[in-house]
Amino acid sequence: MCGIVGYAGHRRADGVLLQGLKKLEYRGYDSAGIAVCSAGEIFCEKKKGRVGELQAIVEAAALDGHVGIGHTRWATHGAPSDVNSHPHLNGSRRFALVHNGIIENYAALKDALLAKGYRFRSETDSEVLAHMLEACDCESLLETLVQVLAKIQGSYAIAVLDREHPEEIFVARKSSPLVIGLGDGENFIASDIPAVLEYTKNMYILEDGEIASVQAQGVTVYDAKGQTVDKKVYQVHWDATQADKGGFADYMRKEIYEQPNALRKMLDAYCKDDKITLPFQFTRKALQEIKQITIVGCGTASYAGRVGEYILEEITGIPVKVEVGSEYRYKRSILDASNLIIILSQSGETADSLASMREAKARGAKLIGVTNVIGSTLSRELEHVIHTMAGPEIAVASTKAFTSQILALYLIGLFLAESTKTISESQYQAYISKLRGIPEKVEEILRREREIQSIAEEFYAYEDMFFIGRLWDYPIALEGSHKLKEISYIHAEAYEAGELKHGALALVTSETPVICLSSIAAIADKMASNIMEVKARNAQMIHVRSEAVPPAPGCKREFLLPQEEDLFTPILAVVPLQLFSYFTAKYRGCDVDKPRNLAKSVTVE
Ligand code: M6R
Repeated sequence: MCGIVGYAGHRRADGVLLQGLKKLEYRGYDSAGIAVCSAGEIFCEKKKGRVGELQAIVEAAALDGHVGIGHTRWATHGAPSDVNSHPHLNGSRRFALVHNGIIENYAALKDALLAKGYRFRSETDSEVLAHMLEACDCESLLETLVQVLAKIQGSYAIAVLDREHPEEIFVARKSSPLVIGLGDGENFIASDIPAVLEYTKNMYILEDGEIASVQAQGVTVYDAKGQTVDKKVYQVHWDATQADKGGFADYMRKEIYEQPNALRKMLDAYCKDDKITLPFQFTRKALQEIKQITIVGCGTASYAGRVGEYILEEITGIPVKVEVGSEYRYKRSILDASNLIIILSQSGETADSLASMREAKARGAKLIGVTNVIGSTLSRELEHVIHTMAGPEIAVASTKAFTSQILALYLIGLFLAESTKTISESQYQAYISKLRGIPEKVEEILRREREIQSIAEEFYAYEDMFFIGRLWDYPIALEGSHKLKEISYIHAEAYEAGELKHGALALVTSETPVICLSSIAAIADKMASNIMEVKARNAQMIHVRSEAVPPAPGCKREFLLPQEEDLFTPILAVVPLQLFSYFTAKYRGCDVDKPRNLAKSVTVE
């Protein structure tokens, strides 16, 4: 999604801004631009395409400005083009503005401005803001912003330069993240922490409705009415190297390899002395009240939720359903304190997941958040939060966050069952020891990556693939097909193995390889029948099976998962699929970290 950077200090602003924009590239974008106050003017350059292309033009301009803003755009209103890129300027070029989010009432605002004679250059919703600043023009830019922002419906993070006050940047946010990095004689603005982490670990995280003035010598934060706010400095506890590739060719590969340690770290943090301790304040009575659990997430997080449905029902005996955020937020669900809603979000900033969280909160449900980003909106707005501790996930395709979310769901299940005494101590301890064994088994799979690479080498040129599985192998199949679509652009579909014959089997031919997941020994014979059905249609099959599941005759290739009890196979089963997508995408020459059209953090509805 769009990214914002800004700088006020002693360095040349253009270099800091370009560097920051490169750090934000992982979020996904189609154009980039910067604006710098230089020699009494606002210099503005923006282009469709990569930051590298913008860099050449900006460097040629040799700007001597020390205050500026920059932006990477992910198109929503208006196609990717130079003119639709940010920053946007008002007619007199006094203001330059960058915006993330969507201004929902922009059409009415634009009509009113057109009627007053303002001329628009772009098709974006964002440009209205630049003209509104000019149209309003109060005594101070702070007052102007208070008035302009009160008229905006929708979501925004903005940064504004004013030629009349070239030493200062104003920023504001509502439902779109923005942080201010606090340096020594210099300050930084960014959509997320990694973009400024090489300069400082001290941050202000802006809350909804806040406005801030950022200058080299200081930052002042105001509320939506323009009153100053006392802001707490947030200290980041990880460093810039964790957000680097660390010797790997791509972030995605590095993040796949980080999984064993990420899982270990979570187990060490939440499971001490053979007891799961989660940072929750629920009383036993409150936990005993829970009669229904709903897991909400988007994309990969929703598939982790679907795996969690089986895990939680099995461990707690409480009925579980899973909803995607974009639907759940508009459902008129009847909720009360007997409902536990678990919101899963790697970034903690996904607009639909946050809206679902707020809706469920307002309706009186109990809530637990699971996020990978400390300080994210989800972690700040919820009282009960599990941090997945996987470290920054930069590749658009989520890998380590997925397996960490599944681990979090095991932990929540065991925590609930133990707190309400619905599990025996021996069963509880047996489950904990199963969890402790998972990281090593993931390592074992990673050591055998060559086997998966050779499968990818054989199949990468096909344009359609199916993934099939039963029970929790099905959401793993969904995640496998999701990964393949995202980064290799192969059309892939996942089916409950028994459902294929109700329609999609018509599409299965020798040209549609089928990846058959069979990690659950208890239903291995049912899965074997489904494999025979696709074999009879001449499909080439890749069998991913547990040791306890017999081989299926006629499968072209197979990958054997380390032995594991049925309920604990999902984390193991997904790792070969992550590697399969990764290698397939590499063989097809795709940019695995930055797939086309996609954004890392989806902060618009
Ligand atoms: O940050 P979140 O977990 O809320 O993100 C949800 C989805 O946007 C995300 O999982 C997306 O599907 C990834 N690109 C998957 O690889």
